[in-house]
Amino acid sequence: MDKISIKGGARLYGQIPISGAKNAALPLMVASLLTDEPLILTNVPKLADVVFMAELLKSFGVSVEWTPGETLGEGGTYRLQANRVRGSTAEYDIVRKMRASFFVLGPLVARVGLAKVSLPGGCAIGARPVDLHLTGLQALGAAIDVAQGYVIADAPAGLAGGEVVFPIVSVGATENVLMAACLAQGRSVLVNAAREPEIVDLGNCLIAMGAKISGLGTSRIVVDGVPKLHGASHSVLPDRIETGTYAMAVAIAGGEVELTGTTPDLVSSLLDLLVLVGAEVSSTGTGIKVVRNGSRPKSVSVDTAPFPGFPTDLQAQFMALMATAEGTSRIRETIFENRFMHVPELVRLGADIKVEGDTAIVTGVPHLTGAPVMATDLRASSSLVLAGLAAEGETIVNRVYHLDRGFERLEEKLRAVGANIERQSE
Ligand code: EPZ
Repeated sequence: MDKISIKGGARLYGQIPISGAKNAALPLMVASLLTDEPLILTNVPKLADVVFMAELLKSFGVSVEWTPGETLGEGGTYRLQANRVRGSTAEYDIVRKMRASFFVLGPLVARVGLAKVSLPGGCAIGARPVDLHLTGLQALGAAIDVAQGYVIADAPAGLAGGEVVFPIVSVGATENVLMAACLAQGRSVLVNAAREPEIVDLGNCLIAMGAKISGLGTSRIVVDGVPKLHGASHSVLPDRIETGTYAMAVAIAGGEVELTGTTPDLVSSLLDLLVLVGAEVSSTGTGIKVVRNGSRPKSVSVDTAPFPGFPTDLQAQFMALMATAEGTSRIRETIFENRFMHVPELVRLGADIKVEGDTAIVTGVPHLTGAPVMATDLRASSSLVLAGLAAEGETIVNRVYHLDRGFERLEEKLRAVGANIERQSE
């Protein structure tokens, strides 16, 4: 298993190209199931989860062609064509490894009238039920049965438009129901829909495929179903979590870096905080410049929230930054019930963090010290890398496969701006 070694203390200078968003690319790839014509996706990051999604789609008879990007940060292109959908079952072995596999439920039942998808089960960051996906599809007329660990969605005569009221904001359920509603007969209204940029990106791609959607980016999305969608080309939007992670890498290590191919509006909740922390942040037209020189970062408190609030996917990285800041910060996780597994690992690096229920109380220390640490999920792994950039001595991050699920060529991007970081393959 690969490890990442970081020798802390180097400041970062230069440019980091931001890749396409994993959490946009995955549902966009699934959208190929909605049409028999080719869907061309560009700016797709080369990540383990993306490769995995391509394998899942192939199992449904989708033809998949991949052309990699050539330079660091340049995305690849997928040509996906589902001219004949073969089978309708997503097996447990696949779905338990990647929850985004569950997104095939809505598109499959909408296109072929039947879908059988394994329940994903819990995962490291929380229970993560799928009830909202199911009630949403039921509101569009699918009969839902759960048996032997599988969800069977059945709509032999097709789906019909309906009103879907989400009791809490769910990114995945909004995406699943949005895709299904495109081929339902009549109007669907999604109330309390998620407003994340990845949903707007998916909606824009569906519109390019002939869907009739309004209200993207608001909490009320209206979809007028059409009998057929057609092929389209779409470029995946920049990854806001990667953007935010590297912005915090500069804030924790110090230096001056331009993050290229991304935009401040994707991460404004974080950039506002970084200014309070003591970093300078500006828009360059081609990206975002982050500068921190001189004094120690200052502590700031934050609660995670659905977009446009502060993303749960940046909580662990922000905690690493606060671990080195002057003062005490309270970080409250409101989206997932078990997303503090990075805390004991950050403590191994010398951080002073106490967890009280959904809140971590972080008292900054002047210096972290390198140590071997273990990552338990994707974003937690990246927080340990950030801590390693600031720590004295060597930090070894084990279980790098978590990072490879969501950060494209992370060690190359950080090395290019001066970090002492390398991958050790065993
Ligand atoms: C998406 O997960 C992302 N994954 C997650 O990124 C991200 O952390 C999360 O949204 C929140 O922003 C992808 O886009 C592939 P939710 P998702 O449904 O859709 C509860 C990463 O590291 N809920 O918005 O699964 C749920 O338990 C990952 O890239 C229900 O109760 O998240 C959670 O508490 C991790 N019932 C809350 O809603 C449901 O049916 C929000 O989850 C669905 C969700």
